Amino acid sequence: MTIHIGAAKDDIADTVLMPGDPYRAKWAAETFLTDARCINEVRGMLGFTGLWNGHRVTIQGSGMGMPSMSIYANELIRDFDVQTLIRIGSCGAMQPQIKLRDIVIAMTATTYGTPSSSIFRDLNFAPCADYDLLEAAVAASKTLDVATHVGGIYSSDTFYDERPDLNEAMQRHGILGVEMEAAELYTLAARYGRRALAVMTVSDHLLTSEDLPSDQRERSFGDMVEVALKAAFPG
Ligand code: HPA
Repeated sequence: MTIHIGAAKDDIADTVLMPGDPYRAKWAAETFLTDARCINEVRGMLGFTGLWNGHRVTIQGSGMGMPSMSIYANELIRDFDVQTLIRIGSCGAMQPQIKLRDIVIAMTATTYGTPSSSIFRDLNFAPCADYDLLEAAVAASKTLDVATHVGGIYSSDTFYDERPDLNEAMQRHGILGVEMEAAELYTLAARYGRRALAVMTVSDHLLTSEDLPSDQRERSFGDMVEVALKAAFPG
C-alpha cells in the first residue's frame, strides 16, 4: 500500500496501462480483461488487475496533468516494482494531416516543465519512449483500421492555454499533438530504468477546433487500448 494506491504489492501486475480518467480504466478493464478486479479506489482513482490473452495486466488511472501522473508512476515504479508503463489517453492534434480518432504514438515528449525539471536545471532533457514498445505499438496499429502517426508530442501544463505562442512554436517544429502527462512518465521511466510509452487518440484539433462527440470516443479509445496491449505483449 502506498499513499495513493490502496493495493497489496501482489495486486499490481508488472505491466500497467494508465488512462488519465479512472472511469476509462474501469471501461477498459471490463472490455478487454478477464477476471478483472478493482485493486484501487483511493481518491476515486480506480485501478483494475486482470488477464489479457493470459498475461497479467493492471489498468490504473493517472489523473490529469504531470503532477498527478508523477504521483502514480512514482508509486507504481518505486513501491510496486512495475516494469512497463503505457499511457493511454487523448490528445489535441497540432498538424493538418492528423484527423479526429487517429492514433498518435509519442516517440518523444517535449515539455516546458515537468515535476522532474528541477533535476535538470538549465539542461533540456529529451524524454523519449522505450524503443521496443514503440516498435511493437507501430506494428500493432498496422493490424487495425486506424490511421496512426508516430513522432514528437507536447506535454503541456495547461489545458486552457495562456501561452498560445508555445503551441505555434510546437506546430512549426512538427509536433503532432498536445496532451498533459507523457513527458513526466518518460522521464521517470528513464530515471528508474523502466519501459514507457504513450499512445493517444485524437479527441480534438487545435487547427480546426473540432472535437470528438462523446458517443464516438469509446470506439477510438478501444483501438488505442488494443494497440497498447499488443505492444506490451507482442506475439
Ligand atoms: N490540450 C491539452 N491536453 C489535451 C488536449 C488539448 O487540446 N486534448 C486532449 N488532451
